[in-house]
Amino acid sequence: MPAPDLETIVSLCKRRGFIFPAAEIYGGFANTYDYGPLGVELKRNIRDAWWRAMVRERDDVVGLDASLITHPRVWVASGHVATFNDPLVDCKKCQQRWRLDHLLEGDYGTVKRDTAGNPLCPNDGGELTEPRQFNLMFKTQIGTVADDSAIAYLPPETAQGIFINFENVVNSMRRKLPFGIAQTRVSFRNEITPGKFVFRTLEFEQMEMEYFCFPPKDRENPAEYLELHQQWIAARLAWYRDTLGIDASRLRIRNHDKAELSHYSAGTADIEYLFPWGWGELEGIAARTDFDLTAHGKESGHPITYFDEETHQHLVPWVIEPAAGLTRTLAVTLLEAYTEEPDEKGDKRVVLKFRPNVAPVKIAVLPLSKNEALRPLARKIYDMVRTTWMTQYDETQSIGRRYRRQDEIGTPVCITVDFQSVGEGENPGDDAVTLRDRDTQEQVRIHVANLMAVLRERLPGC
Ligand code: GAP
Repeated sequence: MPAPDLETIVSLCKRRGFIFPAAEIYGGFANTYDYGPLGVELKRNIRDAWWRAMVRERDDVVGLDASLITHPRVWVASGHVATFNDPLVDCKKCQQRWRLDHLLEGDYGTVKRDTAGNPLCPNDGGELTEPRQFNLMFKTQIGTVADDSAIAYLPPETAQGIFINFENVVNSMRRKLPFGIAQTRVSFRNEITPGKFVFRTLEFEQMEMEYFCFPPKDRENPAEYLELHQQWIAARLAWYRDTLGIDASRLRIRNHDKAELSHYSAGTADIEYLFPWGWGELEGIAARTDFDLTAHGKESGHPITYFDEETHQHLVPWVIEPAAGLTRTLAVTLLEAYTEEPDEKGDKRVVLKFRPNVAPVKIAVLPLSKNEALRPLARKIYDMVRTTWMTQYDETQSIGRRYRRQDEIGTPVCITVDFQSVGEGENPGDDAVTLRDRDTQEQVRIHVANLMAVLRERLPGC
């Protein structure tokens, strides 16, 4: 059962230390968020799961971490300086600025219209200006002289760092086509539409891979290239379903129509998720052809090619690009994991049913009470398991409340140390502990000597 609405998740995220609105003590800062102690773990786990599937478990993909501050001509070649624009309109009355496409798509709710049918300001019904194109890239300045030569842009995608390193990777890693270069990194876009939580933010993380292949035999009818595109669409859809555990009924593929295609794309399919407000993009899988390598070759005066040893010819590879949003995927993982159900006593409990591989905390060690007698064994177990898994130790409040807290942050396993474990009075301890399963709430006794083996079984892929 996914979260009923976004507010439920937003409030849980703040209460439990996943995500905080940025700069709250200064009244907040639109479309920016800070990731708390659990958010940072969740983000890292999703990123690692992606890296494992895209790099470690494949022998045809390598990684890269390119500089964020990029040569400004990179963005000229990529087309972002000229075309990475959104149409903006201003209200003539309140001066508030809106993205026309989002306004027409209903992102600001139902808006009033004038007698000619033109939309009016969602804020105060004022008349709107003609649309102007607004570039989404953030500009910054390098050095001390404020002239045009000092302008640099914060990257709006990670892809370009990959394209300009194509030759470096081929030469240093002796790569043969087809192969991919993967990168996860922060990107920046000057989004003006109020985002829905971390769905749309000014600063966000992307997980992108450029898969370089031989150019198709027929440029006009690139059948084998389109087949490869389809294979990547299927592989990426399966990742959301099988690795993150997202319900297939809330995932779909949407092909872009011609008018919607990015300036570089010969075809793009989005993987979309059914958010509480409707379908929204999670990942774009674009058929970028040879657009980028050719463009950088032209702009730099240094043609970027690949030498095919079979034909003894230099060629420009074509590219398939699966481009995922890490922070958007994190929001979906939270929405999907959210569950309300009865606890052991029949009261309502909130559980985040994360797959163990993404759960921020894997194990909680909970002595039954603060009693001194329980502490040595509980600490011993904590020290033993924390070297392998992210673990919390908590001895405050009643055991019931601590279980509720661990359920609400999605900890798959709780280990309880009680007087049966350590012994009491005449009775010797059995050196066993209770393992409680987050989803079934079942409790079993496990001898400490077997604990690591049992945990390994219960925490696959962690
Ligand atoms: N290199 C191709 C590229 O950047 P994109 O569809 O613009 O393609 C890829 O972005 C993914 O990045 C999106 O599917 C989305 O998940 C994420 N993304 C884009 N803009 C975002 C924003 N403002 N906030 C959060 N995530 C964003």
